[in-house]
Parts: sequence; structure tokens; C-alpha cells
Amino acid sequence: MSAASARPVALVTGSSRGIGLAVAEALAREGFAVAVNGPADDAELAAAVERIAAHGVPVAAAPFDVAAVAGHAAALDAVEQALGPLTTLVNNAGVGVLKRGDMLDVSEESWDRCFAVNAKAMFFLSQAFARRLLARSRAPLFHSIVNVTSSNAVAVAEQRAEYCASKAAAAMVSKTLAVRLGRENIAVYDVQPGLIATEMTAPVIAAYRERAAQGLTLFPRVGEPDEVGTLVASLATGRLPYTTGLSIPADAGMLVPRF
Ligand SMILES: NC(=O)c1ccc[n+]([C@@H]2O[C@H](COP(=O)([O-])OP(=O)(O)OC[C@H]3O[C@@H](n4cnc5c(N)ncnc54)[C@H](OP(=O)(O)O)[C@@H]3O)[C@@H](O)[C@H]2O)c1
Repeated sequence: MSAASARPVALVTGSSRGIGLAVAEALAREGFAVAVNGPADDAELAAAVERIAAHGVPVAAAPFDVAAVAGHAAALDAVEQALGPLTTLVNNAGVGVLKRGDMLDVSEESWDRCFAVNAKAMFFLSQAFARRLLARSRAPLFHSIVNVTSSNAVAVAEQRAEYCASKAAAAMVSKTLAVRLGRENIAVYDVQPGLIATEMTAPVIAAYRERAAQGLTLFPRVGEPDEVGTLVASLATGRLPYTTGLSIPADAGMLVPRF
């Protein structure tokens, strides 16, 4: 594929494992060139790069800490140097709380960490991404930002107050981006996963599986990273035409109001 035939290029933050890695794979299956990100240039990132490369698409390792805002421009430069002009940003990197428990005991450190990675990084990386898109001609490729927030953007988990607050902020970042970038024909989506089996949820997955089986989710099971990956790739390829600013629960109907 020549540069002129313009292959879409995606940066997926936090794609060294979990949902981000599944998103990177789903995008590779769609023919995207993919920049794989984690905070460190380590064996996990190298393994993820190898896994994406097996799909036969261009791939680059993009090790950087998304919370280090001053490094964003250089990180995007490096990705574009390796893969060409970016079309797609998936803000997926996220962290949980340092300690589950009563919100009356939440530490400032855990609050700041949740907000730095889950909300602030998404805002400023999107800003850096949008600035470079606006500075060049973009047609005819589809351009988008897909943010991975959480069911906790809208539903309280009492033991993880600071995570919920950071995800609610991230969901609003998504909406504000959609408003600003609509006139530029850049679509912005907010994907809100529910209970997905990854390392992040490993300590509680047995309890989640039980609650899902008992009806917490309408499909009586937890989700797999690939399911979120396929959803994100559908959005990033423009398969929901004439849409932007959507918050899409990937939660098997967990938050459908019932009584
Ligand atoms: N799993 C769920 O049920 C669920 C539900 C709702 C929302 N989510 C959200 O979905 C996203 C992915 O979650 P997951 O379950 O796949 O989590 P995960 O298995 O813990 O993976 C998180 C990924 O983000 C990376 N990361 C963390 N901090 C980073 C930083 N500062 N800079 C760059 N990369 C960073 C991690 O890299 P390292 O491996 O090097 O740490 C890892 O690749 C998160 O935003 C999470 O909040 C997950």
C-alpha cells in the first residue's frame, strides 16, 4: 500500500495488554497501522508489538507515560515518523485505585493518579492529536478519537470513588472534544466498558462472574477484551455513520434501568 493510498494509522494508549491490546488487534484486522503504547519500553510492550505485527500491518512501539503531558508532542512525532500521519487516537490507558475502600479514607495520591492517567492525559493527548490534524489536509480518510472510559463514568462503585470521579471527568472530556471537533469532521466517541476480564479486574473477577450470572448484566456473563476491541474498531472505521459525541456502554446492558 503506497503512502498515497493512505492506510489509516492509530495510536492506542495502554495497548501493551488488556482491552488496549485487543483494540490494537481489532484495528490491525481492519488494516490499520498501529502504534502500541505502554508506560515503559519493556518485554510486555515488545510482545504486544509482535502480536500486532503478525497481522501483517505496519506497527511501532510507542513507549511513553500518558500522564507526562510534556512528552506528548514528541511521542506523536515519533509515531508519525514511524507510521505516517495519524488518523485515529484511542485513549484507553487507565489505572484503578491504589486501594479499594471507604471514600472517607481515599488518599490524595490515589485521587491524583486516577485523574492524571484517566482524565488529564486523555484531554491533553487529544489536544496534541487534534492540533496536528487541524494543521493538515485530512480527506478522504475517516478521523476519530475513541475514549475508553467506564460504566463508572455514570454508575457509582462505592469502594472506588476516585476512579468513578476520574471516569466521569473523562466522559465529559469526550463530549467537549466531540463539540469542538465536530466542525472539523473528526468523530469522537466514549466507550464505557462494564465488567471485562483483564488484569485490572483479575482480583475481583470471580465475584463479577457470579454477579453477572445472577443478573447484574443482561447477558449473564462478564465481557472479554476482544468484544470491546471489536466495538472500538467499528467506531474507528466509521461504521456508525453520521454519529459523534456518543457514549456507548459495552456492558451487556448492565445499566439498563430495571425494577
Ligand atoms: N477491565 C474492565 O472491566 C474495565 C471496565 C471499565 C473500564 N475499563 C477501562 O479500560 C481501560 C483498559 O483497562 P484494562 O482492564 O485493559 O486494564 P489493564 O489490564 O490494567 O491495562 C491497562 C493498560 O494501560 C497501560 N497504562 C497504565 N498506565 C499508563 C500510563 N501512565 N501510560 C501509558 N500506559 C499506561 C498499562 O500498561 P502496563 O501494563 O505497563 O501497566 C496497560 O497496558 C482503562 O482505561 C480502564 O479504566 C476497564
